[in-house]
Amino acid sequence: MIRALGALLLCAAAAPPVCLAHETITTKLTWTRDIQRIFIRRCMGCHQAGGPAFSLGTWKDARPWAVAIREEVTARRMPPVSTVKGFGSLKDDGALTQEEIQLITDWANGGAPEGDPRLESDELPRLWRAGPGPEGERLRVRGERRIDRPVRLTGLELGLLTGGATVQAVLARPDGSIEPLVWVRAFRPEWGKAVVFLDEVEAPAGSRVVLLGTPGAEVEVAARPAPAGVNPRVR
Ligand code: HEC
Repeated sequence: MIRALGALLLCAAAAPPVCLAHETITTKLTWTRDIQRIFIRRCMGCHQAGGPAFSLGTWKDARPWAVAIREEVTARRMPPVSTVKGFGSLKDDGALTQEEIQLITDWANGGAPEGDPRLESDELPRLWRAGPGPEGERLRVRGERRIDRPVRLTGLELGLLTGGATVQAVLARPDGSIEPLVWVRAFRPEWGKAVVFLDEVEAPAGSRVVLLGTPGAEVEVAARPAPAGVNPRVR
């Protein structure tokens, strides 16, 4: 175990993408059965070919980074953008659960084994999308913005944030309910992409989108009209 770890550390320090050492495998967890599905949901929005960060889409891509991956997830530096842990399970919050962190850590410590290569998936993630962002009109928010007609929020554009900005966007409804929308830590311009909500968020007339964090930060919230005659369901 200690030897395997040492070998992994040396590998990572050398040059991750070319390290092919064979460590002793000390875990039953495998990439194809236990780990890849987490990466598809939580990492590959950015870590894919053509994305803002190197690919973690296959075992061959991810394996050399095992130690760095463990360090990043236990320090909660990765994933760096997530929707805020909110009320209910309305939408995917993007963050790793404690159980997922444990699985990734145990897998990395145990030699990061592949498992059955035939089970490797080529599925792509849903939260982050290259290309077109969320549907709807863009409403620029700096500090706070009142929404004067009933809409559904479909996502956010982060392209106006400057590097290093940390912001939290929340929706405050007229009935006093608060819905956290997104939390971005130490933004990097190369992520200049949009967050697309898996489930649209109801914002009755008179709601406010409030941006907390780095002073002067701006985002655009995407909204489309709430269907006529529908009484927005407020949770
Ligand atoms: C919002 C985009 C985004 C998401 C989601 C994301 N990352 Fe990253 N990650 C980045 C960027 C950008 C870098 C820096 C890449 C570079 O410097 O070339 C990075 C760097 C890394 C590094 C290298 C750190 C080092 O040692 O320099 C690791 C390891 C990593 N990410 C793992 C993960 C894992 C595991 C996940 C999922 C649990 C994840 N990332 C999710 C954007 C993201």
